[in-house]
Amino acid sequence: MTPIDILLKNNKEWANAQVKADPGFFKRLEALQTPEFLWIGCSDSRVPANQITGTKPGEVFVHRNVANLVVQNDLNAMSVIQYSVQVLKVKHIIVCGHYGCGGIQAAMSNQNWGLLDKWLYHIKTVYVKHKAELDAIPNEEERLKKLVEFNVLEQILTLSKTDIIRNSWKNEQAPELHGWVYSLSNGILKSIIEMVPDSNMQIN
Ligand code: CO
Repeated sequence: MTPIDILLKNNKEWANAQVKADPGFFKRLEALQTPEFLWIGCSDSRVPANQITGTKPGEVFVHRNVANLVVQNDLNAMSVIQYSVQVLKVKHIIVCGHYGCGGIQAAMSNQNWGLLDKWLYHIKTVYVKHKAELDAIPNEEERLKKLVEFNVLEQILTLSKTDIIRNSWKNEQAPELHGWVYSLSNGILKSIIEMVPDSNMQIN
């Protein structure tokens, strides 16, 4: 059996198990999705949104890209954010970074990554903004960890300044914004920043 055959076989088994455990499962989800959360995470295969948060199909709207960036002129991300806020009316948006992020490491290397460099540029601007604090950390691993945290912080700040979020906060008192970092070494999520409408942000 090829790896692809195995995926399709696994899928059949999964679908059967779902129906066995909950006969109305697919009928319900087919009719409606009402996720409470939008997850903006890294594409990294080790950080699957549903598994690490114990959520099921239908509970989390997901957007993932290299290094979990929120870029104002990224039509893809902005469409996801607009749809989830205006139509799905999610109550929470989580931007989740992770330690050991290859995108963050690549941005800090002097290597030429071709097209990817245009994307990594957005991480370099985070570095430049926090250069003094980052350069003061002598240990490279610790410095990269701090940059992962600053990156999440900056993506939340960018998100909070978008028209989509500003307008929603005027009318709906939602969504709350949460900036988290996931640890590959122990599987634990850590809060970096929390922002709720009409209140001061809390940087942890
Ligand atoms: Co990553």
